[in-house]
Amino acid sequence: MAENTQNAEAFVGKVLEAATGMMTLRLCAIGDRLDLFTAIAEHGPLTSDELAQRTQLNERYLREWIYGITLAGFLDFDKQSRKVSMPEAHRAALVDVGGPLYQGGMFRMFNAILEPYEDLIRAFREGGGIDYARYGDDFWRGLEHNSCVRYKNLLVSKWLPEMPDVVAKLDAGGSFADFGCGAGRAVIELAQRFPNAKFHGFDLFPGNIDTAQQRAIDAGVDDRATFTLANFADGVDGHFDVVATFDVIHDMADPRAGMRVARNACKDDGIFVLMDIDCTEDPADNSGPFAVFKLGASLHFCMTTSLAQGGEGLGTVGLPEGKVREFSTAAGFSSVRRLPIQHPLNALYEIRP
Ligand SMILES: C[S@@+](CC[C@H](N)C(=O)[O-])C[C@H]1O[C@@H](n2cnc3c(N)ncnc32)[C@H](O)[C@@H]1O
Repeated sequence: MAENTQNAEAFVGKVLEAATGMMTLRLCAIGDRLDLFTAIAEHGPLTSDELAQRTQLNERYLREWIYGITLAGFLDFDKQSRKVSMPEAHRAALVDVGGPLYQGGMFRMFNAILEPYEDLIRAFREGGGIDYARYGDDFWRGLEHNSCVRYKNLLVSKWLPEMPDVVAKLDAGGSFADFGCGAGRAVIELAQRFPNAKFHGFDLFPGNIDTAQQRAIDAGVDDRATFTLANFADGVDGHFDVVATFDVIHDMADPRAGMRVARNACKDDGIFVLMDIDCTEDPADNSGPFAVFKLGASLHFCMTTSLAQGGEGLGTVGLPEGKVREFSTAAGFSSVRRLPIQHPLNALYEIRP
């Protein structure tokens, strides 16, 4: 009986830790969205009054936010001066936009992914899913920032050297298609690295195509990067030296059709670069700090947006290596090589016709 009580209390402790984590993430999303972290990093230590003057935000709200975020251990608070400041070691995660440790994209994305809550409850009751258009701009910007961190810091410098034939094709001015390109961050990084190659991004969400086109102009690569609104599962004109999908196949309504289109769009001596989620064959075997993260993302977006289209709803952990191999063979590819990258979320495959 006493042991039972102890276990029950320990479990309540775990529940409270989770509640604290949820609230902390929300405070972080506010800090990121309203540029509070940046103001404090650049101008701190600051009192709530000083922060209010700098940001033109309401002092009372800022004061409460400061107490919360400092009690969470994300910022420092000096009781004497009542000033908040940012520990040096927290800058990379909180304010270094685009840097390898930056977490702002995750704050925004995870906050915004929870927004269509009533839609999700309805889907539990009635089936169906949630349309892409129901996610606000913060979600898409958060996703973009997350992707940006990965493509800026890993794709060109660490992942491409594992694929020398892809590098050779793009160096020689080859063509590259990114299916489900989102805001175009992978294309833009690659277009900067390979000025002679031609890049084509396709996505079915109109907001992403608009953003990608603007980002390409901003980066000065719009002469070699074009973006098209299309459901690529319906087929795509042309044949490319390299075809890629980055975190897309598991999201698709018809992932097998996606793989078939990738095969048809790939030249016979071309390469299909498939980046997807690193997961176990049985969803129940996923472990580590990212396991819940992945399942939460699945329920709130990946599985659910696919089901909204009447799709298969593979979900975030629905495309393990075994399925990649099965789908590849069915689509007409002859070889699958998993690349030896170390990443907490992603697995990378080089697949050939
Ligand atoms: C998780 S996001 C990844 C975006 C981008 N590849 C990145 O890594 O930043 C998945 C993207 O796939 C797109 N998508 C899903 N199914 C698609 C389809 N059938 N045709 C075109 N785009 C699709 C979605 O609109 C979304 O932008």
